[in-house]
Amino acid sequence: MKGIILAGGLGTRLRPLTKVTNKHLLPIYDQPMIYYPIQTLCNAGISDIMIVTGGNNAGDFLKLIGNGRAFGLNDVAYTYQEGEGGIADALKLCEHFANGDRIVVVLGDNILESNITEHVQAFAEQTAGCRLLLSKVNDPERFGVPELDGDRIVAIEEKPLQPKSCYAVTGVYMYDNNVFHYIKDLKPSHRGELEITDVNNAYIAAGTCQYDILEGWWTDAGQFESLYLATQLIAQQRLKESAACNASY
Ligand code: DAU
Repeated sequence: MKGIILAGGLGTRLRPLTKVTNKHLLPIYDQPMIYYPIQTLCNAGISDIMIVTGGNNAGDFLKLIGNGRAFGLNDVAYTYQEGEGGIADALKLCEHFANGDRIVVVLGDNILESNITEHVQAFAEQTAGCRLLLSKVNDPERFGVPELDGDRIVAIEEKPLQPKSCYAVTGVYMYDNNVFHYIKDLKPSHRGELEITDVNNAYIAAGTCQYDILEGWWTDAGQFESLYLATQLIAQQRLKESAACNASY
């Protein structure tokens, strides 16, 4: 299993913070944003990763992450997305890196509390298809929203005005190699992007999409409110960690 972090795009919703730097280099409490998806993959035992950057300061990713050994990675590959063609457009650049293997994709602005190892293991046991992670949210209209029927996702709508559930499809996606075939068939959406939701709907149509509900908190950090929330959640987590550490002495 290989890991992919998508850290392209122009981060326009965070301007002027992103006017001269890349969104994923902004701080979330005590670490740059990009550290968190790297740790999500590392903690799940995935040590070969590709980072897709774009926009401003792509070279700073190399300065910051280097060869990835400090994170426990075997290797980091980098590539560059021109423009802001969407999440699926960024993922398209990783076909060569995936080289037929299954992939775990994490959006560069997604931060989660829990370890995803059990979900990655469940995906490894799945014969084919994709596996999505859902999280209960108060504002589903900001996300891809699944319509559920028991243990099946019937369809996903991107940022619906009237959400059909209170879940968000988080930015952790597990795919078999068919993902690159599905991406080739995509047409840009009304916002001019190749949408990852259309990829996920292609898996749903093929009857090969499974999902789990994520435990613990999850947030993106792509808007001022969610960037602030992510910082607060990590600060609280650090406090808990240091309290647990002190208690063990
Ligand atoms: O956070 C989860 C949500 O992420 C999902 O629920 C949605 O279905 C999915 O479309 C996405 O929604 P956003 O509108 O929040 O995505 P955003 O444009 O903010 O992009 C999220 C990350 O994806 C961003 O931090 C970097 C990467 N990205 C995005 C674009 C548009 C790229 O690498 N290239 C891109 O062109």
